[in-house]
Amino acid sequence: MGSLVVVARGLSKRFGGVQAVREADLEVAEGELVLLLGRSGAGKSTLLSLIGGLDRPDAGTVTVAGQEVPALRGADLDRFLQKTVGWVFQTSGLLPLLTAAENVSLALRLMGKPEGPAMQAALTALDSVGLAARAQHRGNELSGGEQQRVAVARALIKAPHLLLADEPTAQLDTETARSIMALLREAADSGTAILFATHDESATEVADRVVRMEDGVLSASVGSR
Ligand SMILES: Nc1ncnc2c1ncn2[C@@H]1O[C@H](COP(=O)(O)OP(=O)(O)OP(=O)(O)O)[C@@H](O)[C@H]1O
Ligand SMILES: [Mg+2]
Repeated sequence: MGSLVVVARGLSKRFGGVQAVREADLEVAEGELVLLLGRSGAGKSTLLSLIGGLDRPDAGTVTVAGQEVPALRGADLDRFLQKTVGWVFQTSGLLPLLTAAENVSLALRLMGKPEGPAMQAALTALDSVGLAARAQHRGNELSGGEQQRVAVARALIKAPHLLLADEPTAQLDTETARSIMALLREAADSGTAILFATHDESATEVADRVVRMEDGVLSASVGSR
């Protein structure tokens, strides 16, 4: 196992009367796919937000690739969000009027990469998710499963240290969901640390380790692969 990318200790977050995350300890290593399994409302998205820098904990610490996430501000936080972490959500969030290739290359353009090389890299990334033939289709001309593949390519093209996947398969049929899970597995095998939140037990098949979450509390469970 590679070095630790995520180290969270005692992370807690409360919303009004709801303790969404309670003293969570979690580690994810380079090349490791950790599955965060829990029912709706368990606190999965909240925990991912704390780790991915979209929200700040009430208590506890978390580092991602050596950076103390809650302490990041301004340009440092922007850089962290752009480069260090990649996200895939339940819906792809593609821009419907841009092509698949444009959607993917945009991630690099935002990081300052010139147009030509960004587009070249986007085409390679789309090929790696099996979508070379769809590169010039617009976002709104792709099926839900294809859109999620583009979203995975868009997240991975930045070569993030950590990929956070929040129910990326929730809106897909079983077979398409499996293909997205296989893509996440491949990304982990090439060295990306992945935290994959879902309520789908079948995802344990691609996980190195499963962590269960209930009412904001994490509990380790046996690895499945
Ligand atoms: N911004 C917020 N304001 C108030 N309450 C919130 C907020 N975000 C989450 N919560 C509450 O925190 C709890 C955990 O929510 P969270 O979205 O993390 O769960 P989840 O496990 O991701 O659920 P799902 O599987 O439905 O996505 C829920 O009770 C939710 O209502
Ligand atoms: Mg959620």
